[in-house]
Amino acid sequence: MRSITRAMFWALLAVVCVISRPLAGGQQADAGLHVDKTSVGGIVENSNGGKPEAGVWVIAETKSLSVPFRKIVVTDDRGRFLVPDLPDGAYKLWVRGYGLKDSERVDAALGSQVKLQVANAATPQEAAKIYPASYWSSLIRPPSKDQLPAGYASQEQWLAALRTGCNQCHQLGMTATRRYTTTDDFDGIFQRNEAMGAAADRLGKDLLEKTLADWNTRIKAGEVPPTPPRPAGMERNFVVSQWDWGAPESFIHDVVSTDKRNPTLYGNGKVYGADRTGGGRLWVLDPLKNTVDMVQVQPRITHGYTTKLDYYHDRGDQEAWMASPHNPMLDEQGRVWMTEPVRPPGAEYYPKWAKSAIATETNNPAEIDIAYKLLVSRRHAMQLGYYDTKTEKFVSVDTIYNTHHLQFDKENRLWANNPGDVVALGELDTAKINPNDPEATEAAAQKGWMRIDMDTKKNVPGVGYAVAVSPIDGTIWQSDPAVDGPTNKLYKFDPKTRKFTDYPLAAPGRVSHGIDFSTDGYIWFSAGSGHLGRFDPKTETFKYWDLPGPKFTGTGIETGSTEYPYFLWVDQFNTFGLGKDTVVVTGTTSDSMLVFDPKKETFYVLRVPYPMPFYTRGLDGRIDDEKAGWKGRGIWATYSSYFPKFTETRIGSVNHIQIRPNPLAN
Ligand code: HEC
Repeated sequence: MRSITRAMFWALLAVVCVISRPLAGGQQADAGLHVDKTSVGGIVENSNGGKPEAGVWVIAETKSLSVPFRKIVVTDDRGRFLVPDLPDGAYKLWVRGYGLKDSERVDAALGSQVKLQVANAATPQEAAKIYPASYWSSLIRPPSKDQLPAGYASQEQWLAALRTGCNQCHQLGMTATRRYTTTDDFDGIFQRNEAMGAAADRLGKDLLEKTLADWNTRIKAGEVPPTPPRPAGMERNFVVSQWDWGAPESFIHDVVSTDKRNPTLYGNGKVYGADRTGGGRLWVLDPLKNTVDMVQVQPRITHGYTTKLDYYHDRGDQEAWMASPHNPMLDEQGRVWMTEPVRPPGAEYYPKWAKSAIATETNNPAEIDIAYKLLVSRRHAMQLGYYDTKTEKFVSVDTIYNTHHLQFDKENRLWANNPGDVVALGELDTAKINPNDPEATEAAAQKGWMRIDMDTKKNVPGVGYAVAVSPIDGTIWQSDPAVDGPTNKLYKFDPKTRKFTDYPLAAPGRVSHGIDFSTDGYIWFSAGSGHLGRFDPKTETFKYWDLPGPKFTGTGIETGSTEYPYFLWVDQFNTFGLGKDTVVVTGTTSDSMLVFDPKKETFYVLRVPYPMPFYTRGLDGRIDDEKAGWKGRGIWATYSSYFPKFTETRIGSVNHIQIRPNPLAN
């Protein structure tokens, strides 16, 4: 009885609020919504005949805060929308949707209801401007098997290499990649960045240039991809809050908002993005105050070197090493751990105690000798460090192993992978590091796990990319992104037995990249072959699902969709509100999060439609307030590509993605 009375009171109040609010900009509408003084609602209609537009995005944007801010929602099946919980400010609203031309921006006062008009796109080409990159790349006609360069056994293998080779830095199919129609154009472009040139060489440069020039020539002549479906069902319940952040040249690889082992920590707190440029920077969003700050990373100064600042041009230069953090992870003491260089890369800067930190399955001295020789013969990229958010100090930790991604286990050991390294896995017992004297304590706190084949006297090949810790038995797993061959595998390390085990990927899986566990012990991975993969360690069997989106022209079940899923993250604690163990795959080339329901085995596509492209790598989920329903939950992701200059706003953004019970919930 009491709750009914309260509900009636709120309903009445809502009506009063709506009536008493002045209207600005867009035409007045009364769609019967619960619009309060921190929200905007209304209806989207087609200007040709007034048909309501269902499943289109409404973007509310303001410049009234200290950084540009936007909130994006989707219309319901009657074309109605509600943008909830807007910080005070002057807002403009506009509409984007498949089949439509972007609408005009109109003023909308908080508390008002507006009617937004939007027109059909005049041509299929105009409509296609906002289709995601992976739709455009589906128009690529892959070379036939007999045209492929040496080393490629099948078209699928080449297509996996193409997706990985190009999309690891930026989307293949975004606008900037669709406007070059000659092989000479591409030849010039591939010389602009050394690693891009190397990626092109691996694919057979001449063949690649011909394939891409043909693709763009057909696009110029008017070819358009299939129309992506509009958001439907649950996909309309999505709300994204978006703050611009970073510098124009930033390369913010990933964000962190909480401790993955306990995502209720740091509720409503700051969110940290690790920027590889500018001599190493952390971008810090305060989502309550709507402010973005920058903290310069301060690495240990070794060997008299100071850092220089140009990530893009001096990277290969030994003297120009820099603190360029790659992947952040918060622990339960408010420390943002990062994989980052803390010393110059040459072998001569190697720590003197290196040999003492090597560990192998047997620890046999002959094995350690071989391991040591291999270790000191190679280049060192990144080590470890952290930013203490309480003292605002940086601590550097030198390691004998290269680092790239990192995960904590329950015992506060930090496990780091080593792509391309001779060390199979790095282990750091963070409790053994004295923050006041890391140099005296770092050697004894770590182990560089190496796998030596005593017959060949070489390390067992494997380029661990990402790390995951089993919630069942504490084993450590790594993805190994290879298009084919013996390193196209996952591998496991058991700290109890000191043993490594390899699990070659079953067909059609290739290029495992992101990896994570569900709480039932399954291992999930995103695959550059356009799949979501799952491995069952009990039965040692693989299962795959094609990711949403089209396929390359003329391909079938032998390969997945054109999507390149950079990463993947399993929601072990229901931080998103869609249930425990929901799998979130980054739709890195389709501006989206591909949310997989493991029970129904279906995907939902949560597209962030603006600014395009929305290229993501890692993500994080946090529970801000367990009692606040959908409002207290959400996932965080940043624009993670090279050069925000490729985006519509020419700047990166940090995004809080939430799911409400229905498209109009407030
Ligand atoms: C190591 C990162 C990296 C990889 C891998 C990479 N690119 Fe690039 N790409 C870049 C960068 C950085 C630029 C911008 C260069 C500049 O403007 O100076 C760029 C620019 C481009 C452009 C020009 C866009 C424009 O109009 O400015 C095209 C087209 C392109 N890349 C295609 C590709 C293709 C095709 C592949 C795969 C063979 C690829 N890239 C792989 C980093 C990469």
